[in-house]
Amino acid sequence: MKNFNFIAPTKILFGKNKVNELGNEIKQHGTRVLFAYGTGSIKKTGLYDKVVEQLTQAGIEYFELDGIKPNPDISSVREGIKICRENNVDFVLAVGGGSVIDCSKAVAAGVPYAGDAWDFLMRKAAVKNPLPVGTILTLAATGSEMNGNSVISNKETGEKRAFGDDSLRPKFSILDPVNTFTVNKWQTAAGTVDIISHIFEQYFTPDKGTFVQDAIAEGIVNTCVKYGPVALEEPENYEARANLMWSSSLALNGLTGTGKIFGDWATHDIEHELSAYNDLTHGAGLAILFPVWLEYVLDEIRAIKIARMSRSCFGVTDDDDMQAAKNGIKAIRNFFTSLGMPATLTEVNITAENFDHMAESACRFGPLGMFKKLGPQQVKDILNMAL
Ligand code: NZQ
Ligand code: ZN
Repeated sequence: MKNFNFIAPTKILFGKNKVNELGNEIKQHGTRVLFAYGTGSIKKTGLYDKVVEQLTQAGIEYFELDGIKPNPDISSVREGIKICRENNVDFVLAVGGGSVIDCSKAVAAGVPYAGDAWDFLMRKAAVKNPLPVGTILTLAATGSEMNGNSVISNKETGEKRAFGDDSLRPKFSILDPVNTFTVNKWQTAAGTVDIISHIFEQYFTPDKGTFVQDAIAEGIVNTCVKYGPVALEEPENYEARANLMWSSSLALNGLTGTGKIFGDWATHDIEHELSAYNDLTHGAGLAILFPVWLEYVLDEIRAIKIARMSRSCFGVTDDDDMQAAKNGIKAIRNFFTSLGMPATLTEVNITAENFDHMAESACRFGPLGMFKKLGPQQVKDILNMAL
């Protein structure tokens, strides 16, 4: 196990009606708020009204940034920055899923920065003194509610990139599982795959001696395997939604990656290319790519770790590591498709048309991956295998 510092300072307010603590929480950080949300779900569910009531009761002045779309575009970030500057906003409240939260973080980073916010994504600028951010999570998936990362798309350039800084970790996140009852089957399934994928990215590394991190990781994957299908069948099952919601945060707040190299993240980088070019849900792209990536990197050495995950979480009983790994990959793909996720790019109407460009773009800042290094040709191979 490597040396590490672990910091996960986000205050979690978990449970039913925790939105009632919103006003008091915000007042500890600011008084003029950017209230950021998506394309309408929070108005349908009534959460919007509850937030407005809290802000009004607490005497907090707020300005709205609405219409943030899935795979949020830099144009929403620029719009948010403008609203903040014009109104001396000192706190950003994100109410929604990963897209709303990521956009809000980019706004928070961009307000004190003199240049264009896309610079953060192009690694041309470092985050400095961002506005504080708080969140009310409505979809269990990305872990953005407890980490400092943000993933932003740029329609004009056809790119989707990530940036992050510990200073962007939310000051607080309100996690009321009831707020996820209305998430549809597709997004529930995609969210479950995303949580599992975050674990995989940090589990499949060349590190040794990280038994406790790996055991926590397996616990989270088992939670998703158990409760993903329950949430699909019974959307208002509190126990299932609660376990998925907490898994979302624990899977990507840094905990399971402690004591290791950064993680692999090649599959995420490749998926970001797919959803930059196509209207593709992040978790659906991962459901297609992760089994393919596992097949691609599988060899005698890597089989050991894949076999451990397969036996611990996917019901595989083979003693031989290579056989266990092969059966495990099949079981992982079957689990994802049992949730209603696609298994091939063809199913989501993606062809090989842009693979050359995607492969180059994915490797723009160097080779991908830690479990196995991948250059543009290997990325292209994986994309072709996923067709
Ligand atoms: O637009 P709204 O009205 O909010 O509707 C959303 C959207 O249509 C809807 N939704 C959210 N909560 C709902 C709901 N519908 C009904 N009831 C609710 N309670 O679901 C749709 C998808 O929302 P989105 O926020 O896009 O989903 P998700 O949370 O999966 O976020 C995906 C984005 O996060 C990035 C992805 O790449 C993608 O851009 N990621 C962010 C990460 C991070 N910051 O750490 C890591 C991830 O790996 C990921 O890359
Ligand atoms: Zn993800």
